[in-house]
Formats: sequence, structure tokens, C-alpha cells
Amino acid sequence: MTILVTGGAGFIGSNFIYFLLGRYPQDKIVCVDKLTYAGNLSTLKDALKRQNFVFYKADICDRGEIYKIFQKENPEAVINFAAESHVDRSIADPEVFLRTNILGTQVLMDACRLYGRVRFHQVSTDEVYGDLPLDRPDLLFTEETPIRTSSPYSASKAAADLLALAYYRTYGLPVTVSRCSNNYGPYHFPEKLIPLMIANAVADMPLPVYGTGENVRDWLYVEDHCKAIDLIVRKGKLGEVYNVGGHNERRNIDIVKLICRELDKPESLIKFVADRKGHDLRYAIDPSKISRELGWVPETSFETGIRKTVDWYMTHREWWEEIVNGEYRNYYEKMYGNR
Ligand code: NAD
Ligand code: TYD
Repeated sequence: MTILVTGGAGFIGSNFIYFLLGRYPQDKIVCVDKLTYAGNLSTLKDALKRQNFVFYKADICDRGEIYKIFQKENPEAVINFAAESHVDRSIADPEVFLRTNILGTQVLMDACRLYGRVRFHQVSTDEVYGDLPLDRPDLLFTEETPIRTSSPYSASKAAADLLALAYYRTYGLPVTVSRCSNNYGPYHFPEKLIPLMIANAVADMPLPVYGTGENVRDWLYVEDHCKAIDLIVRKGKLGEVYNVGGHNERRNIDIVKLICRELDKPESLIKFVADRKGHDLRYAIDPSKISRELGWVPETSFETGIRKTVDWYMTHREWWEEIVNGEYRNYYEKMYGNR
């Protein structure tokens, strides 16, 4: 089988590629990535040594390039990870989010239609459901929860989801959608909460917690997300949405304190800063559909996963130090300088 993975030089896409190469050595993996600030070819250096892996630097919005790649590689399935993925950047400048996340998804699905009804999986997010109140732990997002987005990022992802489902209904394209909670693990770009706190703590820099730190996210180890996507692509029902999450809700402040403990750094590094605009309070996924229908269960506990993640960042300092010492410095200064 030839599988085309978009956004494979980013966090989850690269983890997915290594998962596929390990589990299905007979499959061919084609990666398409624009290598934006969030994409890093060095992440794929071990994959690039493999005969059954090929990389194309291309923009998913570039119809001509994408069609050429489809013509040449003839993929049987496309898994779309490519996206602008950071909420704070979407608040500062939404346009590229609409372009990549919506129009790019459309181009890929048009290619899937044109080149033989290729199986298409859209990697979406629980953020399309908006947020839940902090004082109602009984409420969880199910696949029936109405779409109610808060940020330009989540609105763009919701638009792409709906477009994917529309391509299923209108054109009969074989589509599935997964909506996952917050991931963590290796190769997570340092602008996001967990790697940012690890990188700052290592450098004894302030740990910027938005608002009061009471916002809750539902964390899943990235490998468990990869396994869920693989199951959906191979066994999921066409036209369906699957929520993915591991019932692992944590307050941001507790995550940051845990990282301090793991790295033996003082909590006095924590600095409460101005809140994110429109900041979602709580995300919490009900994963019972994927568990019931496809037998998926998360395998890595948070305690194990966070330890593995901190260890990975400590043993791969060159990977993230190169990032935080580059263009990222300007981003950091702009985002946190006067916060
Ligand atoms: P990321 O920002 O780490 O990686 C995105 C990748 O897409 C990068 O390699 C980037 O170069 C590439 N890309 C961006 N624009 C492109 C374009 N126009 N053409 C081709 N490539 C392009 O993101 P991530 O955290 O790995 O997220 C991957 C997907 O999973 C996204 O669709 C995101 O919405 C979704 N998701 C993420 C999380 C999470 O916790 N990170 C949770 C649920 C869903
Ligand atoms: P993030 O990793 O950006 O993921 P998302 O917004 O998609 O959930 O942020 C996770 C949570 O951490 C979110 O509530 C915002 C908060 N946060 C901070 O408090 N400080 C930070 O520097 C960052 C990046 C995030």
C-alpha cells in the first residue's frame, strides 16, 4: 500500500510516519510538507534513509504540484496532518490558517477524487467543539456535540472537517475524520505548552502561564493518537467522525509544576502572564465510540508519557535548541516580550 502523509515534518505527522515505517515495512510512505517554520526535515532523517520513504517539499494549496505528486505516486490513502496548528499565531494572523487548513484540504480531496477515489483521512481536533465549563466535570465532547469554535485556528479546522464530510456525502469520497485532544511527546514544536515549559525550565527562564493556569486540557501521548488514526484508516466506517482522547484532564498550572519537579527546577520560575484572547476553559473527550467500534484504548499513562517526553527533550537538546536559537527568538519576543 502507498500512503501519502501530509505535514509529516511536523510533530504528529512525523511520529505517524515512524509508526507506519515500524509497523508496516512493506508499505510505501510518501510525505508532502511545505517545511514552514513548524516543519523540520531533520526530524525525518532516519526515515529518509529508508527505501520505502520519499519526501516532497510542496504546499498542499498548490494544486499543480499536488496533482503531479498524485500522478507519480498513485497513493491509495491520504492522511492529512498538514496545517497551521498554533492558536496564538492564529489570533495574531488568521489568514494563512484559512488558506492552508481549508483550501489546502480541498485541494487534497480534489486530487483524491481525480485520481481514483483515494481514501482520505482528515486529522482534526477537539477544539472544533469549543470549550466546556470548569465546574461541570460530567460534561464531555461526543461526536454529536455541536461545532462551536473559539479561535481562528479552530474555526479553520471545523471548516475543513465539514468540507471533508461534504465530499463524502456529495461525491462519495471515502472520507473519515478524527478529532483528538492535546497531544504531547517527541518532536513537539517548542511554541506549545509542554515543550515550551521544558525548554524554558532547562534555561532557567520564566515559565509563562496564561491567566490563572486553571484552564484544563485533555492530554494524550502522541503514539496513542497515531495508533488511533491507523485503526480508523484501516477499519473505520466511511463518512464517520471519531473522537480520540484518553480521559486525562490536567490544569495547565499542574502540568507546569510537574515539569518543574521532573527537571528539579523551582516553581518560582512560574510567571502568570496576560491571558490568551478567547481562551478555551476546558477540553475533555469522550472516546467511547472509537473504543467500542474499533477497540482503541490509550496505552501510555500520563505519568509514563510525560517522563518519556522530558527524557526525550533532555537527550535531544540539539533538535530543539536549534529551533529556539533561530527565528523562534523573534516569535518569542513578540509573543511574550511585553506580556
Ligand atoms: P505542526 O504545526 O507540528 O506540524 C504541521 C506540519 O504541517 C509542519 O511540518 C508544516 O511544515 C506542515 N505544513 C503547514 N502548512 C503546510 C502547507 N500549506 N503545505 C504542506 N505542509 C504544510 O502540527 P501538529 O501538532 O503535528 O498537528 C498536526 C495535525 O494534527 C494538524 O492538522 C492539527 O490541527 C492536528 N491536531 C493537533 C493536535 C496537537 O495537540 N498538536 C491535536 C489534535 C489535532
Ligand atoms: P497549547 O499548547 O498552545 O495548545 P492548545 O491551545 O491548542 O490547547 O496550549 C495549551 C494550554 O496551555 C492552553 O490553555 C494555553 C496554555 N499556555 C500557557 O499557559 N502558556 C504558554 O506559553 C502556552 C504556549 C500555552
